[in-house]
Amino acid sequence: MILSKLAQNLIGSEIVKIGNEVNDLKARGEKIANLTIGDLNSNIYPIPGRLREEIFSAYNNNLTNYPPASGLLSLRQSISDDLKNRWNLDYEPAEILVAGGSRPLIYATYRTIVDEGDKVIYPVPSWNNNHYSFLTGADKIEVETSQENNFLPTAAELKPHLKDAVLLALCSPLNPTGTMFTKEQLTEICEMVLEENRSRGENEKPLYLMYDQIYAMLTFGEEHFNPVSLFPELKKYTVFIDGTSKCFAATGVRVGWSFGPAEIISKMQALLTHVGAWAPKPEQQAVSVFLKETENVDAFVNDFKNKISGSLETLHHGIQEMKDRGLAVDSIKPMGALYLTIKMDFLGKSDVAGNVIHNSSDLVFYLIKEAGAAFVPFSAFGNSAQMPWFRASAGGVSLDEINAMLPRLEGALQKLK
Ligand SMILES: Cc1ncc(COP(=O)(O)O)c(C=O)c1O
Repeated sequence: MILSKLAQNLIGSEIVKIGNEVNDLKARGEKIANLTIGDLNSNIYPIPGRLREEIFSAYNNNLTNYPPASGLLSLRQSISDDLKNRWNLDYEPAEILVAGGSRPLIYATYRTIVDEGDKVIYPVPSWNNNHYSFLTGADKIEVETSQENNFLPTAAELKPHLKDAVLLALCSPLNPTGTMFTKEQLTEICEMVLEENRSRGENEKPLYLMYDQIYAMLTFGEEHFNPVSLFPELKKYTVFIDGTSKCFAATGVRVGWSFGPAEIISKMQALLTHVGAWAPKPEQQAVSVFLKETENVDAFVNDFKNKISGSLETLHHGIQEMKDRGLAVDSIKPMGALYLTIKMDFLGKSDVAGNVIHNSSDLVFYLIKEAGAAFVPFSAFGNSAQMPWFRASAGGVSLDEINAMLPRLEGALQKLK
């Protein structure tokens, strides 16, 4: 079949491939801890009870026709109030756009800013920027980050690539690593973006910043920083990505939002109108009510993040114990989001049958079979397949499953010689 070049060149997701393997084995009755998915198991982590009640109530009240293209005004007002209370950020409803989860908003941000051939910069590992760059025909510049900086980019790493770039895509807490920007790190990057923009002419496209803070409420003790609170003059260049998916364990509820300069937000709205990527109206209404119940929101988020951080800490502790026992593993203390970053340096080793682990993907498939544990290699987030780092997500498994998996993992790794 001859289709568009875009359709023919779409890249499938490596995470989905691993997920399919896991599901096949599960269907055959095998015990497997699925640490791959950036989703929540909703039987372990249901959405907030009050949010559920309000969703039912909105359907009972027949809120089932088209929502306004920018989102219900009541929801945008609740978001505006929440941004002020939580982060001391000033955004009017006209500067806020609601959509069916955050993905359409990331796509709309790229589409609104990036012309074909424009330079887009993002750090790797990071989530899905490669796909959005492909969809917009961007000239993508992937900047490798390092373990020393918790895999968050530094100004020095980004600086050589800023000239002519139109978009810098950042995320904190970061998917896939569960690590966060320090104030100093983000400050230096912000200063650099401002300086770059000061050097550009009036008729030149500025360097815009996309700041994805969808995990901002899921932090385990560290403070979350954002560019506009640090430098109010960055407001005219920054588009935020945010929403309910992760912090309310509501990935299937599909209510996300962006906030940024009104002119950009209104173009994003016009674009998404044609895509029809609105959040369902009953869910919008429910979120607008729930967000105002600050005590309920905080109680839910605190309980939820304690459970997630408990699972991640258990995993981190287990890996550190294996490291102390001499295995070639390591992990970075979890700071936020749903993830733990794990190093398993076994490339070049062989299993008992003599099969060589050539790359990180080989190790993933070996561990699925031998340890009943599934991880995502950093190659799914833009790094080389020779990089021995992996993402473990705590959202799809219980603490008991993690505890039961750790000895299986150690046993399988010990067999590699
Ligand atoms: C960093 C980041 N941004 C955005 C999203 C997308 O969220 P949504 O489910 O609201 O589209 C994800 C989902 O994994 C994510 O990890």
